[in-house]
Amino acid sequence: MKNMGNLPKTNDSSPHSEKESVQQFWDSAPCGTRDVTIDPGTLQYYEAIAENRYKLEYFIPDYACFDGWQYKKVLEVGCGAGSDLLRFAQGGANVTGIDLSPHSAGLTLSRLRLYNCIGTIGNADAENLPFKNDTFDLVYSWGVLHHTPDTERAINEILRVLKPGGRICIMLYHRHSLVAFQLYAAYGLLAFKPFHSLKYILAHYHESPGTKAYTVGEIKKMFDRFANLNIKVQLTPYDLRYQKNKYFPHWIGKLVPQNLGFFIIIRGQKG
Ligand SMILES: C[S@@+](CC[C@H](N)C(=O)[O-])C[C@H]1O[C@@H](n2cnc3c(N)ncnc32)[C@H](O)[C@@H]1O
Repeated sequence: MKNMGNLPKTNDSSPHSEKESVQQFWDSAPCGTRDVTIDPGTLQYYEAIAENRYKLEYFIPDYACFDGWQYKKVLEVGCGAGSDLLRFAQGGANVTGIDLSPHSAGLTLSRLRLYNCIGTIGNADAENLPFKNDTFDLVYSWGVLHHTPDTERAINEILRVLKPGGRICIMLYHRHSLVAFQLYAAYGLLAFKPFHSLKYILAHYHESPGTKAYTVGEIKKMFDRFANLNIKVQLTPYDLRYQKNKYFPHWIGKLVPQNLGFFIIIRGQKG
């Protein structure tokens, strides 16, 4: 197990305060840990995080294909508490995980150790990846790049560190989704601020400050240098939420247009 430690951020073009506030947000409660009351760092703690995650985002294993990367070099950008990175490692991949939040990177490191898995974990910035060109077979990033101030720069970095022919599997938020419309209803219409845009509302009221969400057309442009691009909108339980932690059953989702889902999954290849 290698710990890359806390990496210096180089050539950071974004205003510091913006990225620091993103880091502070995720450091105060790494992704998926907020509602878990079990002792942090224990096996039960990590099992509870994984159980909640794969119950809600049940489609992740189909997209990530955790067991399909044996002996391959997989980089996870924004590994959070390490649920998916652990699954890649258990599937036999040679894993590296980075996160802007030192707390999150620390959880991933201790999680891999606890499960006797090998990997390289560090605190680093998606916009300045500390890796050489053409290093990885897969770059995986789930729900991360819309939180960083310069998303395009992070995508350039991913392209740079991918081997020719290497693949991406990336999830970004979808602006024209039921989640975004619900937020607009709550923080726009019901707050008597109907002129606030969806962009404004997502940036101010959803997760870390400055969160973005995209249309499918915007995503196509952002990833147009990748070959064999496959872009899929995924309806999620979050689109079917009627109260905190309460969701309409799956079958209701079948009655809703699938292109109103909150997640866009982008797969493609470095040509
Ligand atoms: C919604 S969480 C997702 C974490 C993990 N991928 C998951 O699905 O559980 C977003 C993560 O992105 C990380 N993040 C945000 N900006 C980043 C950046 N510039 N570089 C690396 N990680 C970043 C945050 O620290 C946080 O852990």
